[in-house]
Amino acid sequence: MSNIQPFIRWAGGKSWLIPHLKSIIENLDYQNYYEPFLGGGAIFFSLQPKHNSYISDINSELIDSYISIRDNPNEVIDILKEYINSESEYYRIRALEPKNTIERTARFLYLNQTSFNGLYRVNKQGKYNVPYGFREKWKYDYERLHIASQKLQRVKINCEDFSEKKYRIKKGDLVFLDPPYTVSHNNNGFIEYNQRLFSLEDQKRLSKYIDFIKRKSAYYILTNAAHNSIREIFSKDGDTLIPLNRHSLIGGKNAKRSLISEFIFTNIPKGVGKIE
Ligand SMILES: C[S@@+](CC[C@H](N)C(=O)[O-])C[C@H]1O[C@@H](n2cnc3c(N)ncnc32)[C@H](O)[C@@H]1O
Repeated sequence: MSNIQPFIRWAGGKSWLIPHLKSIIENLDYQNYYEPFLGGGAIFFSLQPKHNSYISDINSELIDSYISIRDNPNEVIDILKEYINSESEYYRIRALEPKNTIERTARFLYLNQTSFNGLYRVNKQGKYNVPYGFREKWKYDYERLHIASQKLQRVKINCEDFSEKKYRIKKGDLVFLDPPYTVSHNNNGFIEYNQRLFSLEDQKRLSKYIDFIKRKSAYYILTNAAHNSIREIFSKDGDTLIPLNRHSLIGGKNAKRSLISEFIFTNIPKGVGKIE
């Protein structure tokens, strides 16, 4: 595992999962690595896959940013250096209509760093509509972009639904799955990450995708909300369910620590890593 930090703030980021994952895959000699719900890529950046990596997400602005940082980090940084962290500048840049992918990436990274909580939210017209975040001390960490760029060289990056290209998965590959939550932890309501809600039907589709991975004799690790409907959809013969609890800060000004439960499902055999 390496210590490379994600270059994007992302809701549902999984940095906290890294030590748990490390013990699950300890001694696992996997082949290619797949991460089809990439988001901020905390897990991808923490791993050192020996073979090919295939990373993807359905959010096209996000994926364009990964591609630009892989291929043109200096051009993106040149634009970012001209952007100032102030409320009026924020709304000016938010209203821009970028002419190419590099400009689009610079705008995306700037908004991601300076918006309220780094949220990604668009209105019905697909326009980013998160307000300014008043992060006074913000300064972009360009070194982090260069390090991410190095790590992304030779990585296959695609904007697509998770189930695309499933036929490429082969024996011994590892697929890490971190879908958006459909049901929230407290059993009511939904959490929306994107223009498209990840429905219970999508969770069932994901379960079939996992069946496909297993038929290929590949490995999967799924992280999902600890909820009965999720347990029913994803419990599979011979596989392991690991319940995890963690403390999380919820709420803005009146933030309080609350306990959040998460389920990890995997077909990695118990003897391989330290699975309790
Ligand atoms: C919980 S976040 C992933 C967070 C990531 N593990 C991290 O550490 O930042 C879920 C991601 O799934 C993406 N997503 C939603 N629906 C999808 C779909 N049908 N196929 C692929 N990705 C999807 C969202 O855009 C979002 O980035």
